[in-house]
Amino acid sequence: MNNDGIFDIESRLLLEALQQVYGYDFRDYAESSLRRRLLNWLSGSGFANLSEAQGRLLRDRNLLDQFVCGITVNVSEMFRDPLFFRAVREQVVPHLKTYSFVKIWHAGCASGEEVYSMAILLREEGLQGRYRIYATDVNEEVLSKAREGIYPLKEMQRFIRNYQKSGGQHDFADYYTARYDHAMLMPELKKEIVFAAHNLAVDADFGEMNMVVCRNVMIYFKAALKERVLELFDRALLPGGFLCLGQKESLEKRGVAGNYDELARGTRIYVKRYLQS
Ligand SMILES: C[S@@+](CC[C@H](N)C(=O)[O-])C[C@H]1O[C@@H](n2cnc3c(N)ncnc32)[C@H](O)[C@@H]1O
Repeated sequence: MNNDGIFDIESRLLLEALQQVYGYDFRDYAESSLRRRLLNWLSGSGFANLSEAQGRLLRDRNLLDQFVCGITVNVSEMFRDPLFFRAVREQVVPHLKTYSFVKIWHAGCASGEEVYSMAILLREEGLQGRYRIYATDVNEEVLSKAREGIYPLKEMQRFIRNYQKSGGQHDFADYYTARYDHAMLMPELKKEIVFAAHNLAVDADFGEMNMVVCRNVMIYFKAALKERVLELFDRALLPGGFLCLGQKESLEKRGVAGNYDELARGTRIYVKRYLQS
């Protein structure tokens, strides 16, 4: 057997062992991207191969956190896909305003940029004090960055452009304080956000949500895991609630598709029907 074949066996054994020891389940992640990321992690790890890494990973929690960070894709930005935020502002918020209180789950929130963007938007639309965002991720390291809400100053120009394209009408600089090479977001934005660890592959749902946002997360999952996660969201969402996916994700051919209508074609924002099929 060649090295590639051995690597594939070692990775299957490692993922199985991690699932048994920690409950982290990466077995249903899309193969090619997972393989690339495992190879990448291994090359910087100092271990000769995955079998050698396995013994340490099963005993050393810090190394495991580093591994999880290495194999999950954590890139994010504020007001990413600005047209999504524009659609939320123009087409979703008018519905949310009819509720006395709004609950939103951001699953796979990474380092928090998407969540703070939503908090800014909801405040600008007058929902301050009337919403709570549950922001979750499997990766503890990015979650602690999210809790801090501090981002490199050099990224602000891009964030400002996104914010403006998304329909933002204020001065984005009002939302952060620049310190040396970092920008610290306004601490008030955190008041209505709860950050928590949550693994979409194994954990249960959060209930009675008006909106679930899970963008650029399921692209890394195999079909069976996508189904599991969509069922989780379907249970979490109230009728009339909004399910927001990333530009490369959709409900097409998924089991829960019949329970939803797309808000407008191509938005990847789905509205849960009152009568389920
Ligand atoms: C590319 S980021 C997307 C961030 C943000 N939603 C956005 O679109 O900018 C994907 C995130 O999904 C998280 N993730 C991967 N597998 C997960 C799982 N099983 N449960 C929860 N989060 C997961 C990763 O840790 C990562 O932070």
